[in-house]
Amino acid sequence: MGEVQIIGTGSYVPERILTNDEISKIIDTNDQWIRSRTGIGERRITTGENTSKIAAKAAINALKNASINAEDIDLIIVATTTPDCYTPSTACIVQSLIGASRAVCFDISAACSGFIYALNIAYQFLRNGAMKNALIIGGETLSKILDWNDRGTCVLFGDGAGAAVLSIGNEEGVLGNYMASDGRGSDLLKCDAAPVDINNNILRKEVLGDEVYKNSKYLSMEGKEIFKFAVKVMEETIEKLLEEAKLDLSNIDYIIPHQANLRIIDHTIKKLDIDKEKFYINLQSYGNTSAASIPIALDEMNRKGLLKKGQNILMVGFGGGLTWGGSIIKWCK
Ligand code: UT7
Repeated sequence: MGEVQIIGTGSYVPERILTNDEISKIIDTNDQWIRSRTGIGERRITTGENTSKIAAKAAINALKNASINAEDIDLIIVATTTPDCYTPSTACIVQSLIGASRAVCFDISAACSGFIYALNIAYQFLRNGAMKNALIIGGETLSKILDWNDRGTCVLFGDGAGAAVLSIGNEEGVLGNYMASDGRGSDLLKCDAAPVDINNNILRKEVLGDEVYKNSKYLSMEGKEIFKFAVKVMEETIEKLLEEAKLDLSNIDYIIPHQANLRIIDHTIKKLDIDKEKFYINLQSYGNTSAASIPIALDEMNRKGLLKKGQNILMVGFGGGLTWGGSIIKWCK
């Protein structure tokens, strides 16, 4: 048994940029509202690549950064709200796209907390000696489940993927993990799958009626409730993580929050009196990419050379489920 470390990161976002001004041509919104209420300036939108393709590109970049071959990966976890299909898992498709023939593959559904959950799951497999190398990916094509008639949601989200390779080494690279869920809030942020019915088991369009059928396919959100929840659990998660790792905020070099809304981040900064400079924020360029938001940010920081050996990085996420959680990692590269 050894210690678990992140040895490489990667990300990929589709080339197509969708600006606030473009959205305001198809729906009643404007750049000023979106920027002032969320901080988002633009987002990336897939033009044909499904989640597995985007995730595989992020994965290949992470493998390169980690200097590890795909055949050496024992485990692939894809965290996604927007898989290619019900079955197979997106992770299995990624496996075949990148040639990681030895890996055990599965997806997890934990919405915007997905990458944090995946990190914790992979950590457990590595820490107990069952596996040596894990590839964890947060990948989304949220544009395919957005209702482009709903200005309360469609302006917020974007597509992309981020990945990390975890491996066994000598130094302790994961200092704390925290995960929590509350299914009582499951209706606050949701996207229905195919509905079932006791009469014929499959409710088709004729049975449901056009309106219900249409609405059932798209992401819906109680924005204000999610906002209140997010502010509360950001604070809770940061405090729990610091307690578990026996650290205080002065020991943390960077905080990577889930990139949902700048106002949520600002609330946390004020509430916990944290130096804003510690927060890495890129939601202005990508919007909310759900499970991909934290690993895209981590990879950007890595590529910009911001991460130095020995630094402590706190990651914190929240989302549908409801789910929330975080990790403190020590950068060991
Ligand atoms: O990964 C986790 C996922 N989600 C989140 O973290 C989202 C959390 N929630 C939020 O970020 C915010 O609640 C939103 C950004 C979604 C909405 O901001 P808000 O300050 O809560 O606005 P609101 O829903 O109370 O709407 C205020 C007004 C309404 O108009 P009236 O009723 O005051 O006339 C809305 O119809 O703003 C209107 N509005 C818009 N106007 C222009 C809502 N969306 C838009 C829009 N453009 N896109």
